[in-house]
Amino acid sequence: MSDAYKVYLIGIPEVDEEHMALIKLTREIGHAIISNRAPLEVLSLLDSLISSAQSHFAHEEEIFAPYRLPGEKKHKAEHRMLLEQTGAVRNMVAEDRNGSWQEILLQLTDIMSKHVITYDMEILPHLDTP
Ligand SMILES: [Fe+2]
Ligand SMILES: [Fe+2]
Repeated sequence: MSDAYKVYLIGIPEVDEEHMALIKLTREIGHAIISNRAPLEVLSLLDSLISSAQSHFAHEEEIFAPYRLPGEKKHKAEHRMLLEQTGAVRNMVAEDRNGSWQEILLQLTDIMSKHVITYDMEILPHLDTP
């Protein structure tokens, strides 16, 4: 793993592995957009991102629950918001609508990566007291 990814590690191996897979997908999507790939190619990556995010968020919420994090409600709401927005952008990509989905999808993948280093990192001070 390159040092660039270490900023994303929270110290729970199964969560870290899922985060790495999600971040890799967001980068692949970014690369596909910048390389002007066809909407169908982006859509297939986006579908992988959506299913990985769905299962990761559910898994993470289960793992974090015993820590009773102060921001738990907000964290879960952020997961829901990310899934809703990703689903909405998916429709835009599928219909290749209005030619601006590339910009919106790039922003969304950026927000998804940042979620890990903001919301998910909140677990760190609580790791000794599950
Ligand atoms: Fe996460
Ligand atoms: Fe999260």
